[in-house]
Amino acid sequence: MDKIETYRMLVKQVESLIEGENNAVGQLANVAAILHETMGWWWTGFYMIHDNELQLGPFQGPVACYSIKRGRGVCGTAWDQDRTIVVPDVELFQGHIACSSLSRSEIVVPLHNPDGDVVGVLDIDSKDLATFDEVDAQWLQEIAQVISHHVLLPRQSS
Ligand code: SME
Repeated sequence: MDKIETYRMLVKQVESLIEGENNAVGQLANVAAILHETMGWWWTGFYMIHDNELQLGPFQGPVACYSIKRGRGVCGTAWDQDRTIVVPDVELFQGHIACSSLSRSEIVVPLHNPDGDVVGVLDIDSKDLATFDEVDAQWLQEIAQVISHHVLLPRQSS
């Protein structure tokens, strides 16, 4: 199955996995699990905004940093600029936060509440260089929209 077909299937699976549930932590944990298992990434998870910083949320993979300030690292930059960031080589991203020394490339996608505010990010790391491209960005943004639609995310971003 090629990457696009896999993502097309994943969008449907994510939707049926989280629709009708009322447990944001459980829903995000299951999204992290299905993405991680299906794609074989190194780290797949969420950082959510609390007290004006990104705090570690549900994830799959090795232990990770607990908090990231706005504008710091790839995650804090994606939040600050409200945009998806694809990093083909983490060593070339100034300010990258290395939770795992084995991470080589990364993608971070903002999550929005129904008002359109950023309330967290989906962060994915790979042990290989240049794992993520515009196709991943487009489909992971689609998955982020499915999350926004079915998970009760906080109205206030900070
Ligand atoms: N590398 C991220 C930090 C989080 S870990 O990858 C899980 C960053 O630079 O924001």
